[in-house]
Amino acid sequence: MSDLDRVLSRIDSDFDNSLARLFDLLRIKSISTDPAFKADCRQAADWLARELTALGIDADVRDTTGHPMVVGHRKTDGKDDAKAGPHVLFYGHYDVQPVDPLDLWERDPFDPAVVTREDGSKMIVARGAADDKGQLMTFVEAARAWIAETGGLPVPVSVLLEGEEESGSPSLHPFLTANKDELACDLALVCDTGMWDRETPAITTMLRGLVGEEITITAADKDLHSGMYGGAARNPLHVLSSVLAGLHDETGRVTLPHFYDGVIEMPDDVRALWDQLGFDHEAFLGGVDLKYPAGEADRGALEHIWTRPTCEVNGVWGGYTGAGFKTVIPSQAHAKVSFRLVGDQDPDQIRLAFRTYVREHLPADCTVSFSKHGGSPALRLPFDSDALAKGRKALADEWGREAALIGCGGSIPIVGDFKTMLGMDSLLIGFGLDDDRVHSPNEKYEMTSYHKGIRSWARVLGELAKG
Ligand code: BES
Ligand code: ZN
Repeated sequence: MSDLDRVLSRIDSDFDNSLARLFDLLRIKSISTDPAFKADCRQAADWLARELTALGIDADVRDTTGHPMVVGHRKTDGKDDAKAGPHVLFYGHYDVQPVDPLDLWERDPFDPAVVTREDGSKMIVARGAADDKGQLMTFVEAARAWIAETGGLPVPVSVLLEGEEESGSPSLHPFLTANKDELACDLALVCDTGMWDRETPAITTMLRGLVGEEITITAADKDLHSGMYGGAARNPLHVLSSVLAGLHDETGRVTLPHFYDGVIEMPDDVRALWDQLGFDHEAFLGGVDLKYPAGEADRGALEHIWTRPTCEVNGVWGGYTGAGFKTVIPSQAHAKVSFRLVGDQDPDQIRLAFRTYVREHLPADCTVSFSKHGGSPALRLPFDSDALAKGRKALADEWGREAALIGCGGSIPIVGDFKTMLGMDSLLIGFGLDDDRVHSPNEKYEMTSYHKGIRSWARVLGELAKG
């Protein structure tokens, strides 16, 4: 039996324990954006450092000004490191999104459970099951099996797990700068993306970038009686609504000047490749109880999500929203607006264009303030790298199907930093599905994603070690 075969059978026989360990991590309420869960985030970091060290990857918890990082290292078996393949840095995030609205969950989000469907298939339900605790544990468990079975890893491995991905990674930049030499490897491995469908694995080669802005428009210095002042005093919620409405034209295009600078039209051959993937647009929207495509006219759903930039209003508030009715003209109106970027769109230019647009549309007697939430450019990874070819081979061996090369509508800002700050390309392999309800109530991860995900990483590590 080859080393790999022994590692794979160990993964199978130890799978119940792998699941139990994932459940332990899922029970920790590591919601990074809410300060009430600061101690829980540290607990998740401590748990991971302990697990990694126990399985043979020397790891510790590093403080930042925000939530801590977990960093670990393991060379191969120590016998012949010089001949070993590329030194890889595995990246994942242990933080999760908030769970509200809680009443839409069918069970406690931090009490993980295996749910069996009528057809016998199983899923793991909990906040973070797919994004990203289940995914990061696929790698951890693969490393565990290699070390337990063979006494070492096929390639030198370092691990970086962060706790702020879901809140814009404010500590990441300084941390990478301060620890450049320690973290710069030959290749980053990232498990925070999806499969093409439940039988077809995928490697993600394009990620959208992100710019987030929170805006507050202020008119009067206090909330006013809408009878006494209505008509005479400016209502900032009206101003905000009209500013937000003006961000798109009637064809769905974003109106900011130069917004589309740097957007690359999809070449015909790529379009043809994607057409062959046979994406089911109706099922995609049907899965969330929608029927009709929104956004720019004349673009398909895949084209929208993978290759077009967007402007979305993520939240709007102000005035009285409690029970009953209160007749006020609010003093302030607020919104959170984000932009997904593609191609070579420049996050700083887009932030500036947005702020300029808002200021230019502000009537007399109103002021505006902005606060910045993250800014990362879009990313395209090479199609012809050695790592990509090895990743494809490993995935095809495990799933019995060629991996699809896909884009991703979401953003993983660190992948850009790996390239610009540490000079590393990334290999993005993940086992999430479109219907995993990431960031939504009742998040789940397929049991097959977890099990075959572990087996896939075991194979990727084996493949990377081949010359
Ligand atoms: N895992 C996601 C990114 C993702 C989304 C991959 C969908 C594949 C499909 C990641 O954790 C995420 O949600 N990122 C945030 C980044 C933001 C908060 C800076 C995102 O995309 O909104
Ligand atoms: Zn996420």
